[in-house]
Amino acid sequence: MHKVIFDTDPGVDDAMALLFLHNHPQIDLIGITSVFGNAAIETTTRNALYLKQQWDIAAPVARGLGETLDPARPHVGWPTGIHGDDGLGNIGAPATVDLPCDPRPAHRFIIDTVRENPGEVTIVAVGRMTNLARALRDDPDIAVLVKEIVIMGGAFDMRGNITPAAEANIHGDPEAADAVMTAPWPVVVVGLDVTEQTVMTRKRLADIVAAGGARAKLLSDISQFYIDFYEQHVEDGMVVHDSCACVYVVAPELFTLRSGAIRVVCGGIADGQTIQKADDHLFPPNAWDNLPSQNVCVGIDAEGVLDLISKTL
Ligand code: BDR
Ligand code: CA
Repeated sequence: MHKVIFDTDPGVDDAMALLFLHNHPQIDLIGITSVFGNAAIETTTRNALYLKQQWDIAAPVARGLGETLDPARPHVGWPTGIHGDDGLGNIGAPATVDLPCDPRPAHRFIIDTVRENPGEVTIVAVGRMTNLARALRDDPDIAVLVKEIVIMGGAFDMRGNITPAAEANIHGDPEAADAVMTAPWPVVVVGLDVTEQTVMTRKRLADIVAAGGARAKLLSDISQFYIDFYEQHVEDGMVVHDSCACVYVVAPELFTLRSGAIRVVCGGIADGQTIQKADDHLFPPNAWDNLPSQNVCVGIDAEGVLDLISKTL
């Protein structure tokens, strides 16, 4: 059984990933932490509570940070054309949800939960890395107590999706992402290199709804706006970025990894770009020295991933 904290900015593909984690028999979802990204923190937290309520999810929701780690960093805005004004495809979710949040801020919830379960917690992070970086800043010793960090973010051997250099989750808080990638906890990055190959067609989503009942129907309703956006880029359907990171937790054999230290460009024309060091990169002493080697997904069995998502949803 994998104990998972899901750090998320729901977000349409976040919603699918949440239902995957909730449904999968080998995952014990022990916490949901919200973060800003696809919408403001008030909205992503409301969305997490709304999905928890609609899908009867037991895990608590802890509200996360609403601004970048470095307060001087300019705000990049919300991707309303992708996830809708409400972050859930403009389905008309209620303004408030009658459920409480955990009393702790997300970074404190993460610290406490990791300390209560040393060596057992996997954190799947599919929004800005701000909550994780703040948890590290407040309690750096948790790094060696975490089982694994699985991140949806970054673009290594290809262009970004928000700028030519950067993927959205990393671009939204590069300083936070650099802190997370260079900390001494095991990181696996599931970036655009593999997620953009993972396209769920309308037919596959319809089949999920036919077999999956009311929960899947809500997911399908949420997804229509996002599909309309993605069909400007793919022939049919939508890219299911965040679910790929969740699938990695239970089926790592569907991915090919490459190891090496990772840094994130902070500032300038390539702000938010993710770069992995290769073994044969020989440098004079510099900022890449003595960093932990992390893993980047460079290959994926996309059909295998989509089949597992279908089966689980
Ligand atoms: C990432 O950005 C968000 O729009 C998605 O939820 C995903 O986490 C993809 O770049
Ligand atoms: Ca997300």
